[in-house]
Amino acid sequence: MSIDVAVIPAAGRGTRMRPATRVVPKALITVVDRPAIQYAVEEAARAGAKEAIVIVDLDAGHLVAQHFNLGGALPGLEGIHVRPVVQEEPLGLGHAVGEAAHMVGDRPFYCLLSDNIVRPGFDVLPQLAAGSDDGTVSVVCLRRLHDAMLSRYGVVIPASDVEQDLLDLAGAVEKPGVAEAPSRLGLVGRYLFTPEILAILDKLPPGFGGEIQLTDAINQLGQAGRLRGHIADEDLLDVGTPEGLLQASVCLGRHRFGPQVFDGF
Ligand code: UTP
Repeated sequence: MSIDVAVIPAAGRGTRMRPATRVVPKALITVVDRPAIQYAVEEAARAGAKEAIVIVDLDAGHLVAQHFNLGGALPGLEGIHVRPVVQEEPLGLGHAVGEAAHMVGDRPFYCLLSDNIVRPGFDVLPQLAAGSDDGTVSVVCLRRLHDAMLSRYGVVIPASDVEQDLLDLAGAVEKPGVAEAPSRLGLVGRYLFTPEILAILDKLPPGFGGEIQLTDAINQLGQAGRLRGHIADEDLLDVGTPEGLLQASVCLGRHRFGPQVFDGF
């Protein structure tokens, strides 16, 4: 089964990017020559998605719609239809994903956090699809974390050895910290979900930080024996912080213009 729909949550407050995000939504901050959100839509399109459901806040909805649809589709994005859905309050990433339920229906779907951009040439959605038994098992993208990162990421509970970068998972914990971390494998913003996660999210109470946590829903998939992880070859770029935005701009700018772009700089 090919996965034809992607959910792209982009309705967070963006407090780590103040003051840039006082007026401009984080998803519309420029990285080299296009807004951050466009990289996620392009990646979904490369993986074969025909529909990108972008979760936005009340202010950003019309801006995102205009960016993608004003005067016709953007070059290269003719094959994907971008549909904004408003999350009225930032109740958490899990809540944001759940807001897409009525549009996703009973289809498996990709989920891409717009804060994360893949490095050129390192798309991971095809590997998630390859590990999903034809879209019938959820597969999350993982990276190996340093100690300090264990209090900033969701961390998974392994349930098997790693074979060809793929392993079974028994659950996940949000931001456990070094002492409580069940492994060093963290969730990094790319997922393939079966629609059962939407039913889990629908009933999920608030968790860490009082927010409805996607990690808690992922944990339930793991407990049910319905979850795998794919360990990515390369880190994703994180444009949710000023330092990360600078690193992403350098990485993507060098790729676009060639390494000589910084000669004599
Ligand atoms: P983050 O927690 O990193 O985003 O959420 P944030 O809330 O914008 O960040 P800070 O901490 O205030 O700087 C990860 C992803 O989930 C989305 C965000 O847009 C980001 O893509 N998100 C988060 C939502 O769509 N809705 C929410 O309620 C929370």
